[in-house]
Parts: sequence; C-alpha cells; structure tokens
Amino acid sequence: MTFTLTTPLYYVNDKPHLGSAYTTLACDAVARYQRLKGESVIFITGCDEHGQKIQRTAEAAGLSPQAHCDAVSTQYRDLWERWQISNDRLIRTTDPRHRHIVEQFFARVEAHGDIVEGRQQGWYCVACEEFKDDPHEAQDPECPTHRRPLEWRDEVNLFFRLSRYQEAIEALIAREGFIQPASRRKEVENFVKQGLRDFSISRVNLPWGIPVPGHDGHTFYVWFDALLGYLTALLEPGEEPDLEAAIARGWPASVHVIGKDILRFHAVYWPAMLLSAGLELPEKVFGHGFLTREGQKMGKSLGNVLDPAELLERCGRDAVRWYLLRDIPFGDDGDFQQQRFSDLVNNDLANTIGNLLNRTSAMARRWFEESVPPAGGGLESSHPLALAAAAARRQGLAGLESLDFRSAAEAPLQLAIAANGYLNDQAPWSRMKQEGTREQVAADLYAVLEAARHVGLLLAPLLPELSARMLAQLGQPPLDSGIGSRGGDAHGRSLPDSRTWLDQLAWGGLEPGAALPEPSPVMARLELDTPL
Ligand code: MSP
Repeated sequence: MTFTLTTPLYYVNDKPHLGSAYTTLACDAVARYQRLKGESVIFITGCDEHGQKIQRTAEAAGLSPQAHCDAVSTQYRDLWERWQISNDRLIRTTDPRHRHIVEQFFARVEAHGDIVEGRQQGWYCVACEEFKDDPHEAQDPECPTHRRPLEWRDEVNLFFRLSRYQEAIEALIAREGFIQPASRRKEVENFVKQGLRDFSISRVNLPWGIPVPGHDGHTFYVWFDALLGYLTALLEPGEEPDLEAAIARGWPASVHVIGKDILRFHAVYWPAMLLSAGLELPEKVFGHGFLTREGQKMGKSLGNVLDPAELLERCGRDAVRWYLLRDIPFGDDGDFQQQRFSDLVNNDLANTIGNLLNRTSAMARRWFEESVPPAGGGLESSHPLALAAAAARRQGLAGLESLDFRSAAEAPLQLAIAANGYLNDQAPWSRMKQEGTREQVAADLYAVLEAARHVGLLLAPLLPELSARMLAQLGQPPLDSGIGSRGGDAHGRSLPDSRTWLDQLAWGGLEPGAALPEPSPVMARLELDTPL
C-alpha cells in the first residue's frame, strides 16, 4: 500500500502566505515519518490555477492568466525547496495532462447520469470561489470570511447531482475517523442534515478554465477541476494522462490535510464525485485551524501578514517548524506570537535539547578518551532513562500517527527534560572528583547520551536538520530518510534497511568506545531584536 497524502492545491492569486506554509510543514512531518517507518509515500502539493479569482488577478496585473500562474507557481516551488519540503509531486492544474484526467473523470460521472442542466441563482464570493447559502444581509451582502461584497449570479449551468448521495455521505461522515479532528464533524453533519443540493460544476462566460467536453461555452467550475488535481498528481512525471494509471499509482489518499474553511468540499462534494466515478474514497480528511498573529486575523489590509520566505530567512527552518508544530494543537486555531516563538525555540531547542547534548558529550570526551563511555548499568532496560525513552517513543509515534504534532514534539522534549534532571541529580562533575566512581559516571553519561540519541531520532520527522546535527554529534550515521529511494521493490514498497529508524529507537544503540566528535552547539539561539 502506498501512503498518499495531500496539502490543498494553493490558489495562485497571491504569493504564498504562512497559512499555506503551515499546512505544508505539517504534511512534510507526516510524509517524513511514514518514509522513516518504511512506507512508500506519495506526498502531493500543488497549485490551483483556474477560475475567476485568478483571471481577475491576472487582468489587474496586466498579465495573461498563464503568465501570472507561471510566475506565482514558481514562487511556491521555490518556497518549498527553501523549506526543504519533501513533496514527491507539485501539480499545477494548468498542466496539460490535467485536462485529460478531468475529461476522463467527467465522462464517468456523466455516464453515471449525474450531470444535469439547471439554473444557478445565488450570491457568489469570488475570493472563496463559492456560492453562499443564505447571506445574512438582504442588501449588499458580504462574504463573512473575506468581508467583500458578494456578486449576484443567474446562469444556466451544468449541475452535479449531489442530492443522490445524501445517504452515502451521511454514512461516510458518521464513520469514525473520517473527519478529523472529531470536533469538526458536527459542522459537516449539520450541513448534510439540511439536505444536499445539486451543485453547479460549470461556468459560462469564464474562459480561464478547462472546457467541458460536449457542452460548448462551459468551462469547469474551479473546485471541480481542482479536486481532480489530486488524481492527476499521482501520475509519474512524464507519464501519459490516463485516469486508471493515476489511480493505480496510489489511490485512495490516506489523508487530505486542509484548512477548516474547505472541509465541506473535501468531506462532502469530493467523496460524492468519487462515488459517482466509481472510485475509492479517501481514508481521512483532517481540517486544521487558522493562524492569527498577535491575536489578529492576518490580512493585507492590516499589513500584518507574515511572509514565510522572510520568516525562514530570519529564523531558520528548525525554529519555525518547531514553533508551529509544537505550540499549536493541530486542528485548533493558533496565534503566532513573536515573544513566545523565540522563548520556545530558545528554551526547548537551544537550552533543553542543545545543551543536554553539548555538555554530556563534552564530559564524555574529557573523561573517556573522546568516546562513548562503557555502558555498565546504563544499558539496563529498567534504567530510569531507558523507561523514559520507551515512553517517549510510544508517545512520539502515536502523535505522528494521529497528526497530533504537539504530542509528537513534546515526547522528545520531555525525554530531554528527564535526562537533564537525571544529569543534575547524579552530578557526574562532582562524582568525578571522588575515588572509585568512574564506573558509575560512565554508566550515567552513557544513559544520558543514549537518551539524547533517542531525542535526535524522535525529532527526525519534525526537525530533520536539528535531528541530523544531533545524530552527527553523537557519531551516528545519517538516517535513511527514504527520500530519493522511492522506487521501492517490485511491490512498490521501500526496500527494508539493515537498521530502520524504528529499529534504532531501541535502548542501547550507542556503541561504547565509539568516537564522539568535538561538540559544537546544535541549535543557535534566536535573537529577534526587531519585530518580524
Ligand atoms: N485552492 C483551494 C484549495 C483547493 S484543494 C483541491 C484553496 N486555496 S487557498 O490558497 O485559498 O487556501 C489554501 C489553504 O490555506 C486552505 O486550507 C486554507 O484553509 C489555508 N489557510 C488560509 N489562510 C489560513 C490561515 N490564516 N491559517 C491557516 N491556514 C490558512 O482554498
């Protein structure tokens, strides 16, 4: 089985913002975790490039829509490279192959009798690219999300017969674990309970879209085309655009990770479209919360948008990854606070984790010939740090499995706190001054170094760079991240490593007597003297 996971396909109406980086970083942690476990992974991200919003943005910039999309999607590509995102695909819905996949999918849906003509009347938000059900204000209604005027539409369109899928969708969203976190299920349930209405899947007079075969003058509604981008993305680079071939590569998706605002599209419309086309349903849809900044909604008009490229430049990848994944419960809304950001990075990463490793390896090198000390009692599975490491392993893996990144990040942090506490209690620096204590000191240092190795391993999916520096500092070989060796065996699975990441997460992996490289700080402190 391939583990397929997706970020949303981002609109290219504007340059990437922190919200997009947030989802992508979270997905990156999941993809890295699955690869470290030995799974074969297809990690999909991409750009959603059609529709009225993009067409208007391009017009305003005096560019052709294609030139505009090319420019902004390049910014996305660059940003993901600079963040070292391990995506396997970057689909653009203007990829000529995508058009073929959309046509093939539409043919199935139409053959299934799910396409009818109808009249679409209602208030439309171009920024959401969505009809709004019941605007509150009778006059000059606004979009509650974008605070921009809605536009009245009255046109004859093609409709998808969503109403036929009422029961199937009710059963699907009742399924344990399909919508996550569970707290988000209620809002979808309420929407479905009101009765599913057919929705329009084409537009007339909108040239910037994929033409609907057999229906002159119609282009596909941007959401219909965008969701299908998840299927096109499964194709290998250069592969012929064949829907069956795409499916065989890695459908169904294991998880779609999205923001809460687009849950309805993923948990209701998309599954119904898939059922109509006779395709399997995604296993899970995870709707995360929204980021605010210092308590305020981020927006251009407030001038408080955090640019992910600038953030990266000033603070580095490890710091930002840590803050976003460790501080904000994935699923809840979160507030980006500069002071808290630097406090957490400095306390957790520079002090607790970085110093633990530095001071322990400095002592080991000084007293034990620049190498890992003899393990003695430090090797016992009942050693307090062995027990703490086993608990951290359990919590870390469970957290990554369920996309609870906070818990996954706290696991190694708690282990580092326990190891620091143990070191302070045992005080090897005092012991070394006494007679006959060398063996005890060796065992203590061994246990703390071994705990630090576990911390480094458990950080690998979350902070790959800090993890790599920690393991190097402990004289360990780099991890096989699974990236770049994605071919797998004849069954599409990654070939097993002689010592997998999971195998390495066992107490006693450090070899006594192995050389310890000269320590240097693994994590720089974050000094933010001016506002971000
Ligand atoms: N193009 C559609 C998705 C199509 S998927 C087939 C889209 N694009 S978007 O660029 O507008 O939004 C992408 C994602 O960013 C959404 O999941 C949205 O929830 C998320 N976010 C937008 N602002 C955000 C924050 N302030 N905080 C966190 N996520 C935010 O919707």
